[in-house]
Amino acid sequence: MEFEKIFTHADANGELRLLQLTDTHLFANQAMGLLGVNTFASLQAVVAQIQTDSIAFDWIMATGDISQDHSARSYQRFVDTVQALGKPILWLPGNHDMQPLMSQTFSTNGVCDTKQVVSDHWQLILLDTQVPEKPHGYLSDGQLQFLAGALDDYPDKNALVLMHHQSRLIGCRWLDQHNLKNSDAFHQVLQGRSNVKAVLFGHIHQNYEYQCDGVAYIASPSTCIQFLPLSDDFALDQQQPGYRYLTLKADGTISSRVKRLSGQAFLPDNQSQGY
Ligand SMILES: [Fe+2]
Repeated sequence: MEFEKIFTHADANGELRLLQLTDTHLFANQAMGLLGVNTFASLQAVVAQIQTDSIAFDWIMATGDISQDHSARSYQRFVDTVQALGKPILWLPGNHDMQPLMSQTFSTNGVCDTKQVVSDHWQLILLDTQVPEKPHGYLSDGQLQFLAGALDDYPDKNALVLMHHQSRLIGCRWLDQHNLKNSDAFHQVLQGRSNVKAVLFGHIHQNYEYQCDGVAYIASPSTCIQFLPLSDDFALDQQQPGYRYLTLKADGTISSRVKRLSGQAFLPDNQSQGY
């Protein structure tokens, strides 16, 4: 993998603070929407809310499905909007992304390509689960080796693993068809490594927190449309777009919170039959 590992420091409290933005589904044309929600307007509103909330964070984690139409313009739109927050962005691809264009547009705008950040008490490992032109996810042997190697390199640091797809079934049957297909191989790498504290993902467009074998599995609302939790068939949620912030503490614990926009400015078209 061709990227440079980044070394950074915790803040004065020994904490590393993250902001997760996920599934922005932007278009080249800023007037376009997804199932009735203008994705650019909703991202702008979320970013404005973060500024209003005065959330303190060190890194922005963009966990995939940044573009809906594979255009360079959509990635440029993401950078232009999110760089207003004034913090470095880390990213990984979702099933909807066009990686070469994503990587190229981000790097020409100074967004780094790294997939491993090492701090005083934590390391962040960003994985690529994309299977081109498929909605489900898969970790290649190379990705699994990268994960195992990164964990082997820093056994004394807590680890947060990030990817786009869900590695555990989340109780939405239609979405769980599009999960990480080789989740057994992934969980095998985590087995016996008690320093892995959490897996943070996107893809499911809903707030999700589940603790299993000492690992927290955490997903967050999209910045545009929301999917209804625990739904067998495709169903949209009326909840508003949002974001998550996380504090990774020196003792290996995590505190995290989802914040959503207030009001009802971004309601989806309820007649939508699919996604
Ligand atoms: Fe998505």
